[in-house]
Amino acid sequence: MAEAPRRPRVLSGMRPTGMLHLGHLFLLRKWVELQETSDCSFFVADYHALTTGVRNEREAKANSIDMLVCWLAAGLDPERSTLFIQSQLREHAELHLVLSMVCPLPWLERVPSFKDKADTAKREDLSYGLLGYPVLQAADIIAHSADHVPVGDDQEAHVELAARVARTFNDRFGKPDGWQERLAELEEQLPDAKEYRRLRQAAAQDGDAAARGKARELVDAAELGREARQVLRGGADGGGREILVPPAPLKAEVSRLAGLDGQAKMSKSERNDIGMLEDRESFAAKLKAMPTDPARVRRSDPGTPAKCPVYGYHRLFSAEEIQSQVAEGCQSAGIGCIECKGLLADGIEAQVAPLRQRAEPWLRDRDKIDAIIKQGNDRARAHAAGVLSDVRRAVGLPQA
Ligand code: TRP
Ligand code: SF4
Repeated sequence: MAEAPRRPRVLSGMRPTGMLHLGHLFLLRKWVELQETSDCSFFVADYHALTTGVRNEREAKANSIDMLVCWLAAGLDPERSTLFIQSQLREHAELHLVLSMVCPLPWLERVPSFKDKADTAKREDLSYGLLGYPVLQAADIIAHSADHVPVGDDQEAHVELAARVARTFNDRFGKPDGWQERLAELEEQLPDAKEYRRLRQAAAQDGDAAARGKARELVDAAELGREARQVLRGGADGGGREILVPPAPLKAEVSRLAGLDGQAKMSKSERNDIGMLEDRESFAAKLKAMPTDPARVRRSDPGTPAKCPVYGYHRLFSAEEIQSQVAEGCQSAGIGCIECKGLLADGIEAQVAPLRQRAEPWLRDRDKIDAIIKQGNDRARAHAAGVLSDVRRAVGLPQA
């Protein structure tokens, strides 16, 4: 049965940490933007949260719901995006198991986040699951055939590992006897078989990445059956059948927000954060306590905006006129730090007030979130089940 043309697929997830903070806002905006162009899925990585401790069910659920409220407040649209919970799809656990048989041990031992931990913790404190964390992440991505994974730069290594695992799998299981003849045969189903063949050969012979991309686009634009699409996409990549889609990290230029205390990263556990849904009175008080350029001891001392974390925030939250007004005022001692922070509070308020407004009905009726999750879980499961069925067939396990 022919499927409709394939749109690019995007997936990302976060561990359930409850209410998010302003540092998350920039990545979320990227997610919201991607809804315009791609088939998006976003999920709560509650299995991954087990690596940092097991909690009780009530707390885990509250953390997931609070995070989902923040996603919705930022503008994720449950009609356009599939929002789901990792642990509610058995397919993630099952694919994790199969991929763990494919992923070489040294790839995992080299992953920076594991290496750091392994260098400092006792061996008894390192779990098998922690080592396998990126394999589970690969399963998350691959179960939904994601092409692009928008993440912060600390996660890029994990996405690259997922791509390598998918390619290894395809290499091992996607090249049965006669696959090249099958490719030649299926090419004829494309409206422009000749162009596809030309691009595919350019990609294979000259390593022409642009040609590879265009060949894939031709395949994605056509109405094709499942197997045909896999074989032709794999062919564009110079390989066998693409049973599993190798993802690429989407290196969005996401601004990184420093902590209120001047640390490189805002984080709830460091208590240097402003909540995404926090009200003005509360965050304005936190701004008041924020350190400024230490050279400005007195109101009459000129300052250097580049040395002040408050100015760093202005760059992200204030309009350009305010930014230049503040920079000039700081350097000439024309403006005091209290006034400067008040202007910053205005800028932040302008950006977060609409989020609080959007969150309000969800916070009033949290049961509505359950309905969204149920719909998302069902939609996500339907796709993942198809991928798992392919995987079982490819590795020679009976269908479940
Ligand atoms: N490891 C990610 C984090 O800690 C969360 C995550 C789990 C994820 N699975 C994923 C992100 C799949 C993107 C895709 O932030
Ligand atoms: Fe920082 Fe603003 Fe004070 Fe300058 S005026 S030191 S930018 S808080």
